Amino acid sequence: QGAAKDGYKHFMLKEIMEQPKVLRDCLVGRLQDDRVCLPELDGLPVPGSIRIIACGTSYNAGLWSQYYLEQFAEIPVIVEIASEFRYRKPILKADELIVVISQSGETADTLGALRLCKEKGYPVVGICNVLGSSVAREASACLYTQAGPEISVASTKAMLSQMVLLLLLALYYGQRKNADCSHAKKLRAGILNELKALPEILEGALPVMRDKAKKFAYQYAYAKSFFYLGRGTAYSLALEGALKLKELSYIHAEGYATGEIKHGPIALIDPDFPTFALAFDDDNFNKVCSGILEIKSRQGNVIALLQEGTELENNDLWYIPQTKLPEFLALPAMQLFSYEMADYLGKDVDQPRNLAKSVTVE
Ligand code: G6P
Repeated sequence: QGAAKDGYKHFMLKEIMEQPKVLRDCLVGRLQDDRVCLPELDGLPVPGSIRIIACGTSYNAGLWSQYYLEQFAEIPVIVEIASEFRYRKPILKADELIVVISQSGETADTLGALRLCKEKGYPVVGICNVLGSSVAREASACLYTQAGPEISVASTKAMLSQMVLLLLLALYYGQRKNADCSHAKKLRAGILNELKALPEILEGALPVMRDKAKKFAYQYAYAKSFFYLGRGTAYSLALEGALKLKELSYIHAEGYATGEIKHGPIALIDPDFPTFALAFDDDNFNKVCSGILEIKSRQGNVIALLQEGTELENNDLWYIPQTKLPEFLALPAMQLFSYEMADYLGKDVDQPRNLAKSVTVE
């Protein structure tokens, strides 16, 4: 076990720190100049709409990708929790593509949803990390994420790898739909360049992030509850940040869309109920900042994760490097925060109570 952890105290920490390599591995063979190659999908038609189905952290990755699929592929997207989808009477459109996401490829509800859609005659694309798993075998086509084995029960690097594949999927369909539009081509090339630069940026950022995560974890270990807030592409990350904190440290945490806090949750804010806010340098920045100020004016403490070059009046600022894809840096930052919190509180990081790596029962 000691060797497999490569000198790290826990598998989870090792897997978080491996993420620059995961980013690199996920891009191997996938790019040809400014083109994305997903030959697994070349034989399937471009769908009129996409329905993404998954559980847990994989669901959060799916929700995240909705923004990019709509932006780059211009395809409407619905994202569903597998256990809900299965027991409704869902109405699928004729030209719909089903995408199921599962690290293990064995999650019972996700597999059940896949089978249901296949029975109805729909193509199902699996995004999966485990070679030869049930999802990989049964899907019409499988896009393998290249995260390598994930041992820690709480998923970290697998989500990052799913996000890469989903972003590539958005660019791939954009390519097929808008092959000749030079404006769309330029936008795709721009985001691909950001993606290619990420491994190095993350590599440089991780040690600094770990120090910051440790500092904030000690400072906020008093909390019994936490809010995680994000807007736009940060919303699903806020859900994931909250999920990681509860899974690992057993601190109650809720992820919310920043714009929704005024519709109820803000009633909970007091000096003992802190917030982890994601304020990316995008079109939502000013709105997110005013949400943060509303929390502060009610004596709420805030850790604000910002990108270099932006400013906000707040005591606890956590700066991450500038990039157009800040989610790929914010995710490891939040993973490290939960990791350090759980370790500081003496919790079983790799095997949290009551949880399983893969839930193969309904
Ligand atoms: C379990 C794990 C989570 C994971 C979820 C979905 O609950 O503890 O970390 O996100 O299953 O797993 P999958 O393998 O389908 O991605």
